Parts: sequence; structure tokens; C-alpha cells
Amino acid sequence: MNYIDLLKENKQEHILKFLDKIDDKDKERLIKQIEQIDFKQLKELYEISKEDKNKAIIIEHIPFVDKYKLSEERYNKLQSIGEEVIKSGKYAVVTLAGGQGTRLGHNGPKGTFLVNIKPKPKYLFEIIAENLKKVNEKYNIVLPWYIMTSTENNEKTEEFFEEHNFFGYPKNNICFFSQDDLPLLDGDGKLVIDENYNIKVASNGNGSVYKAMKKNGVLDEMKKRNIEWVFMGAVDNILLNMCDPILLGLTIDEKNEVGSKSVVKANPFEKVGVFCKKDNKPAVIEYSELPEEMAKETDEEGELLFGESHISCNLYSINAIEVIADKKLPYHSAHKKINYLDENGNLIVATEPNIFKYEAFIFDGFNYFDNLSILRGRREEDFAPIKNKAGVDSPETAIELYNNYWKL
Ligand code: UTP
Repeated sequence: MNYIDLLKENKQEHILKFLDKIDDKDKERLIKQIEQIDFKQLKELYEISKEDKNKAIIIEHIPFVDKYKLSEERYNKLQSIGEEVIKSGKYAVVTLAGGQGTRLGHNGPKGTFLVNIKPKPKYLFEIIAENLKKVNEKYNIVLPWYIMTSTENNEKTEEFFEEHNFFGYPKNNICFFSQDDLPLLDGDGKLVIDENYNIKVASNGNGSVYKAMKKNGVLDEMKKRNIEWVFMGAVDNILLNMCDPILLGLTIDEKNEVGSKSVVKANPFEKVGVFCKKDNKPAVIEYSELPEEMAKETDEEGELLFGESHISCNLYSINAIEVIADKKLPYHSAHKKINYLDENGNLIVATEPNIFKYEAFIFDGFNYFDNLSILRGRREEDFAPIKNKAGVDSPETAIELYNNYWKL
């Protein structure tokens, strides 16, 4: 079907009007973009933005293990199980770096953000590289390091690594792969045009990592290298422990295929997603979905029943990634303030949320397993995220946690 019919059939005629107003080169590029759109998927996405987010689900507590309440004997056992895998070269690390980092507002891929830590400022990617190098030295190995980028930031990310000589990490053990993106839609399900006359798209959420690993041959490569366990973590947590043998040992010992590190909520109403069982399967429930009564509920020892925050510190067997990669993870919609060009080419400046963005969440992959190992760590050792420009989870709060942890 040609682009005119495609747009008419899918009620996107406003783009036709816009096409009449731009020069041939821009028109040609825009038409190519239109021809690549999966309109069937677009319809499904639009339906999501209208869905009732308070559907009835059964939410229950999920057990966890506190790393610091393990007996010495159990701790040592889990450590030796984990270390055995790490030393035998069966462990790899994935960094999720395909996000747009809109809240931080840094110009460029989030991993290129310079953090003013002691004794000298370092980039987010540099902090990760250095932490991995420490693991390599400790175990006398070279961890294969995979970095997920997006179509928007892939080129800039690779250039940045080249410019900085890969921060001294063995270059042939770093592999970049890109996730896909999805068009954004307005409240009526219409595509929008950006200031450069392109269909406005955004990366499709960190939950696309499983499919992106399969599609880009990362899974196959890992299997060839005999990797059995893969850690996946966010680019923006400067205390992320990417190689905790206790988490690995616990997951293996509990005979699970997925493990995750948590930290206890700072207070019952902290705005974080927490682990639970949703309809009897491991899951993460967002703070907005957790009823107030449940958020406050405690067990007989006074521990919050829904207090284990998901901190994007996840571990998978290779098989688990394959299982999830073959599933269709749900997309979630987020209503954002986004500027765009209307059909006459006028810039519409958003003053309130106007456009829907669609993302798959990494934790929706947990749903396909009966169980999940959860290891509670400590905020001051495991979690110093940089999300916002200022205030909570900002460079300022993360730097303080980092300097304290490293006693700088
Ligand atoms: P966040 O959900 O905090 O998103 O990502 P973000 O892009 O960093 O920031 P905002 O929401 O736009 O302000 C958590 C982790 O998941 C990665 C991010 O790079 C970060 O490491 N991520 C997020 C992806 O890899 N891909 C995505 O599509 C979204």
C-alpha cells in the first residue's frame, strides 16, 4: 500500500497535509518513516492509553532474604557458589543505557553525564567501567560487557567510548547493541512530527532488552562464549554492584532462574516500585498501584510487607532471557509534556501532558517464572541513582552516597 492510502486507512491524514508543506528531501525521508510504521501495533498502543489502570489483581507479599541476616555459614556457602560461576567465565554484564534521561535533562546519552564525585569527577559510563575493572582484577577475569543503547543515542555512545579510549576496558570485551523505538501518539491516537520534520519516536522502554538481545545476536554470542548468568543494571546508579556473588549464589541455591537485589523503602510511601506477587507470579507493583493500606502493612517483626524496592539490579540465567525474549511484554503508557509541529508546521509548545509515550518495563519479565530470588541489600551500599536534576535521586544525593561508601 502506498503511503497516502496507509495514512488515510489509519486516520493519519494530518500527516498528508503536513507533507504538502515541506521540501522534497524532507518529504522523502518522512515517507520512508511512514512506510516503516507498524500501524497494527499503533492501534494496540492507542488502546493502552485508554485502558483502566486499576484492573482487579491479587497482590500478595513475596519473601526475600536479607543479605546481612544470613548466618556466616550460609553466607560463605552462597559466596562460594557465586564465585565459582564468576571465576569460570560464565558471567556477563549488561548495562541499560537506552533511556532518554528526560528528568535529568543532560544533553547527550545519560552515560556521558559527568558526576562530581571525589577525588575527581567521572562520567557515569566511566564509573561502571572502573567498577567492572575492579571485579576483573579481583577474580583475574575479563567480564564481557554489553551496553544497550537506543537508535537515538547509539552513535553518540560509541563515539564517546572511542574518544575516551573505552576507559581502559579491554575493547574487544565491550559490545554495543541497540533497542528499538516506538512512535509517540497524541490523545486522539495521531502520530506527531518533531521540529526536524521526523515522525516523533522514543526508545521503547528497558523491558525491550530481552528482545533486543535476541534480535541483535547478543544471546547467541553469549551462548557461544558459554555464558550462563547475565546481570542487567541501570546506567544511572553509581553504587550499582554488578557482580555480587551472594545474589548469584542465592539464585542458584534457590533453584531460580531470576534474582534481584532490593533495598528497603525509605518510608511506606516512597515513590518506588516494590516486589510482590501479582496473581501469584513474581512482579513489581508501582507505588501508584499499591493501595495505601497495603503500603503501610507490616509483619509481626514490623517489616513492611511491601517494602522491597526494585532497583534495576537483576540477574538472569541465559535460559530465562530466552524465555522472556519470546514473549510479548506489555507496553505501559506515560503522559508527557512534549512539543511538536502541527499539520500546518506550527510549533505547539506543551504546557501540560499532551503526548503518550509507550514503554515496556524490565520487571514485567519476572511474570513468566513461578519464583524469583530477592536479596535485600543496603541503600548505602547498593543504590545511589541519578534521576532528577535536583532534590531526591539527583547528582547531589548520589554523590554524597558515593563519597560516603568509598570513604572519600
Ligand atoms: P528510567 O526509567 O529511569 O529512564 O531508566 P531514564 O531514561 O533514565 O530517565 P527518564 O525517565 O527519561 O527521566 C532506568 C534505566 O533503564 C534504561 C535507562 O537508560 C536507565 O539505565 N532505559 C530506560 C533503557 O535502557 N531504555 C529505555 O527505553 C528506557
